[in-house]
Amino acid sequence: MEKLLVNYEDKPCYDVIIDDSFDNFPEDIIKNNSKVLIITDDNVATSCLGSLKSIIRNETEVFCITPGEDSKNLDTVREIYAFLINKNFSRSDMLIALGGGVVGDITGFVAATYKRGIDFIQIPTSLLAMVDSSIGGKTGVDFDEYKNMIGAFYMPRLVYINVTYLKSLPDREFFNGFAEAMKSALIRDQIYYSWLIDNMYEICEKDPDTLINLIRSSLSIKKDVVEKDPKEESLRMILNFGHTVGHAIEKYKGFELKHGECVALGCVCAAFISWKRDYLTMDEYYEIRDMFVPFNLPISTEMLDIDKIIDIIKKDKKNVNGSLRFILLKKIGKAVIESDVTDDEIRASLNEINFDEEW
Ligand SMILES: NC(=O)c1ccc[n+]([C@@H]2O[C@H](COP(=O)([O-])OP(=O)(O)OC[C@H]3O[C@@H](n4cnc5c(N)ncnc54)[C@H](O)[C@@H]3O)[C@@H](O)[C@H]2O)c1
Repeated sequence: MEKLLVNYEDKPCYDVIIDDSFDNFPEDIIKNNSKVLIITDDNVATSCLGSLKSIIRNETEVFCITPGEDSKNLDTVREIYAFLINKNFSRSDMLIALGGGVVGDITGFVAATYKRGIDFIQIPTSLLAMVDSSIGGKTGVDFDEYKNMIGAFYMPRLVYINVTYLKSLPDREFFNGFAEAMKSALIRDQIYYSWLIDNMYEICEKDPDTLINLIRSSLSIKKDVVEKDPKEESLRMILNFGHTVGHAIEKYKGFELKHGECVALGCVCAAFISWKRDYLTMDEYYEIRDMFVPFNLPISTEMLDIDKIIDIIKKDKKNVNGSLRFILLKKIGKAVIESDVTDDEIRASLNEINFDEEW
């Protein structure tokens, strides 16, 4: 079992427990007479709900959403509000998010807004949610075509990670989450990056102890960053390494590629620009690029309209006062935020990942 304490605004705020069972679940975090609503999705309900329900002694309701990003909207939030009102949930009751990042983001947003705030626990079940989205307090939903446009910063009471849940996670989802672990290492921790290379086999085999180490290392990096900059005013932007180009490819491809797959492509582009600026050596660039391959993540993709992608990048909400904030690597384990990356540099990096059928 591993435990991290996450601070918020310089005060201790919530524990993150990483374990291979529910043996260390702190039952007293849910008050005796509180009702509990578990919010989950149909896939997760099938494989994970039974074991969670068996450890909760309180009166428990379940609200199941349709899996996937299409559910992450205000219609789903409205249905959950109606359910909570109908079942007389008060502010002293508790919500539990049992699922991936979609369930976590929706549940956190409902918790932040229902009766001006109700406690919630994150029990992430996808690797992406375990290494990234379950901590840091970003909650929210998409609005029309705008991703994560409506939301709030709202902290959970507890994050409990039971790695046995990863057994039922489809492989493509597992590697999707791995991209965020790789990103964390690249921006902040060269030793962790080398550890990922050395433990490639154990990670792909989903060895429980290796996964606990991987999740702890990734979350320690995120914890350190969000504690220093909880509301993404400066430093927290480094968590967007690989995401500037990644989000644009995700949108351009009509969400046919997974988020982590696009982040991997975005990391390759950002590492390429870092090499061309002489921040990284050529060998380091190629090592980073090739490191995604054993984890079934792409390092090139077909038929990119590079001008369209640059256009999408420029419309991205992370542009501040017209200048694009691009995260580069000054070296492996040290990210920097730069505002002077040119269209030509981005174009060259996109050419690098553009797999041309004529070749
Ligand atoms: N709040 C944050 O800081 C933050 C950070 C990164 C990403 N996000 C958000 O996270 C979301 C993506 O999260 P995700 O990749 O977990 O997607 P997801 O929640 O859609 O889960 C991916 C798929 O895996 C299934 N699944 C999850 N756990 C399972 C399990 N144990 N067994 C079987 N199936 C399982 C789900 O049903 C779903 O089909 C996006 O909406 C993104 O915006 C939020």
